[in-house]
Amino acid sequence: MFRPWLVILALLAKHSQRDAVLVASAGHEICSAANHSPCSAKQTYPKLVRHDGVQVGHVQSINLTDGQVLHLITKSLRPLLFEIPKFLSAEECEHIIKLASNAGLFQSTTLPDIDDEKALTDQEKKEDCLQLFGSDENHNGKVSVWELGVFLNQTYGISLNNADIEMMLTTTNFDRDGDGEISLNECMEGDHVVLDRYMNNIVEEHPQQRTRLSQQTWLQMSGTSDSVLRDLQDRVIQITKLPRIFVERSEDLQVVQYGVHGHYHAHYDSTVKNDPSLPCCMGSKYSAKCSQCRFLTVLYYLNDVPRGGETAFPVADEEHFNETEFEEKDLSNLSTHCYDANVVIRPRRGTAIMWYNHMISNMSGLLGPQDEHSLHGGCDVLEGHKWIANNWINAPIEWKDHL
Ligand code: OGA
Ligand code: CA
Ligand code: FE2
Repeated sequence: MFRPWLVILALLAKHSQRDAVLVASAGHEICSAANHSPCSAKQTYPKLVRHDGVQVGHVQSINLTDGQVLHLITKSLRPLLFEIPKFLSAEECEHIIKLASNAGLFQSTTLPDIDDEKALTDQEKKEDCLQLFGSDENHNGKVSVWELGVFLNQTYGISLNNADIEMMLTTTNFDRDGDGEISLNECMEGDHVVLDRYMNNIVEEHPQQRTRLSQQTWLQMSGTSDSVLRDLQDRVIQITKLPRIFVERSEDLQVVQYGVHGHYHAHYDSTVKNDPSLPCCMGSKYSAKCSQCRFLTVLYYLNDVPRGGETAFPVADEEHFNETEFEEKDLSNLSTHCYDANVVIRPRRGTAIMWYNHMISNMSGLLGPQDEHSLHGGCDVLEGHKWIANNWINAPIEWKDHL
């Protein structure tokens, strides 16, 4: 089995470039986002803070500067997850949907082009096979069902279980000797056009198996002249009680629209666990050379969904979370396993949910270990549309520079 959430976030990487920000701390110029010189996280940032969830069902009130009172309802402790009703007004929700529609939405995942149905040349096949063998993680010269799952997820944005993959190998005749793996020879002898057609067919015919089926766009938050987005950012600072700098240096607002069958299978918003050796991408400067260090997620529901579209946290507060078992049971597929999740939240217009993807490091007060219970996703929309927006609050890792 494979871990689809490991590769999803790489698909979210289309950002608008933001202007350079100069940050001064204690009178020193620390770093410039423009010249790509690494910055020392310790010097630049104050300490992170996390709320106290107390216990599931606990409600804490937060007084906003405009006199409004918001209620944080604890939904789980691992991850620490809150539901916050009435975070946005109906007008604010409408406004954000309108901004996103005007900006233009694009597919959250893209598929390889199969217009060209001609048989590939040996050179093209070789390139394909080399790419495939990039996922030969244990370097044994064969691509296993698990490794193939990771590859197909990255290439086609589709989650297949072991049985699906074995069926694909048989049908496309890529495993000629029947040992359940693809050797380099088998790859070179296989018909790549047949494989491509087979995969595209799955994607078209079975949208449920796509890791993510939605459209999205990005709205600039920091420095915006839009008063709704400015107020929203201020409210995020007040509700999280985080020092302003973390919020202001975070990614733009991601607005997502799902139609019927739209979903996002279970994943982690933070990609630190994938490759802990990488520094953090800060703000919207995403690249393959840095991790998405998303300390906190604030997700807003922008409309009432007639049916479906819940946000599921499959392993929230799970005492014995076994990743292998989880994968074997295909529980990250929320089209089929939405209601097996430990916490399931119904989308309601104006409600926000907020959770911590990471602990805080005792040493530095900055980004600590990723919370493996923060796995989550969006269940299938069964009727109507679903609009959400994601605010990811980034934070750097203590002992590493960030980009
Ligand atoms: C996301 C996400 C959940 C939902 O966009 O990263 O987890 O309910 N969405 O749509
Ligand atoms: Ca084989
Ligand atoms: Fe997410």
